[in-house]
Amino acid sequence: MIQILVDRYEINQELSRGAQGQTFAVVDLQSNRPVAIKELLLANAADWKAIELFEREAHALRSLDHPAIPSYVDAFHCEGDKGERYFLIQELIEGEDLKTRIDDGRLFTEQEAYSFLQELLQILCYLQDLSPPVIHRDIKPSNIIARPDGSFALVDFGGVQMTVAQTIGGSTMVGTTGYMAPEHLLGRAVPASDLYSLAATTVHLLTGRAPHELSTQRMRLQFRHLQPISPGFAFFLERMLAPTAEIRFQSARQAAEVLASSPTPQGLTRAGLAGAGMKRAGLTDEQLLTVPTIRDRIANPQFAAVVIGLGTFATVLGTLLHLFTEWIRADTYFAILVGIPVTITVIGLLWFLWAYER
Ligand SMILES: Nc1ncnc2c1ncn2[C@@H]1O[C@H](COP(=O)(O)OP(=O)(O)O)[C@@H](O)[C@H]1O
Ligand SMILES: [Mg+2]
Repeated sequence: MIQILVDRYEINQELSRGAQGQTFAVVDLQSNRPVAIKELLLANAADWKAIELFEREAHALRSLDHPAIPSYVDAFHCEGDKGERYFLIQELIEGEDLKTRIDDGRLFTEQEAYSFLQELLQILCYLQDLSPPVIHRDIKPSNIIARPDGSFALVDFGGVQMTVAQTIGGSTMVGTTGYMAPEHLLGRAVPASDLYSLAATTVHLLTGRAPHELSTQRMRLQFRHLQPISPGFAFFLERMLAPTAEIRFQSARQAAEVLASSPTPQGLTRAGLAGAGMKRAGLTDEQLLTVPTIRDRIANPQFAAVVIGLGTFATVLGTLLHLFTEWIRADTYFAILVGIPVTITVIGLLWFLWAYER
């Protein structure tokens, strides 16, 4: 069946069929170029959220200009048998999406995953350097296309957010559970949320396990046991997957710079990672990647030492006042002015011993 839309687009082949719509490869009869056309299927005419996302994608593609992002061609809506039909036309990316690749069981080697990350981080650098930064919000295997020449392209910009500051109430939730960072699940996507999704995608392509199938420990996805991965590279992925954005790399550029320090995943070392915002030196990988609990924060001998110092100082001051001033000679004042600091000093000492042991 050959179908021609608005006398211009000849539908060639279905690329995908989702709940929200279908995507086809078509030929633009005007320019004779192959293009991709995405049709929005509306369950009912009042599905404004879907229309909003659709228009967001059209708007985003129009303003983006990067070789790994499909360029915008056209957007229109027309009257169909079952109501309005919405279409978005964009550059056709040749190749296959990575979900198809995973479904075929063709996983990434460590080196392939490494090159993949390097390339995708460059796209995120471009998006994050825009002003205001752009957050894709739905990075996952089905939204990345591997071209025949081995390069990758990022598609599906329906979820983009053009501004970092957003209100939870008024925004439309976009994303795919498993690939979404914890703060994104709470409705507060930040640029570093894309880093999390990219790392979750990479782990999926490396191990064949979707992020929702992996076990977690203190909110961290556990993947090292599934596959032998070079320790530096595994640590790099863990940092991108840190549950709080503050432990992740600050930006795609920072993460890209770390990867640029070594041509292979085997060459990635803790020393290479040290320059990239890893200020808390002397901590183990485990400690670096974990959000400290209140107990961890209190178990700090330095705090205890400050308390001991203050307690001792107050004790000495109280004693001197008692010895050399008239008004404090009375025993009750002495008991208060020296008794309390002595108690604090003793508590500080016990705290120090406990914190030092840990
Ligand atoms: N520009 C494009 N070129 C080639 N294939 C595309 C393009 N955009 C999307 N696709 C394919 O169509 C699928 C669905 O498109 P997508 O934009 O992700 O829509 P959805 O919102 O339904 O996920 C993608 O997974 C990809 O395989
Ligand atoms: Mg998609």
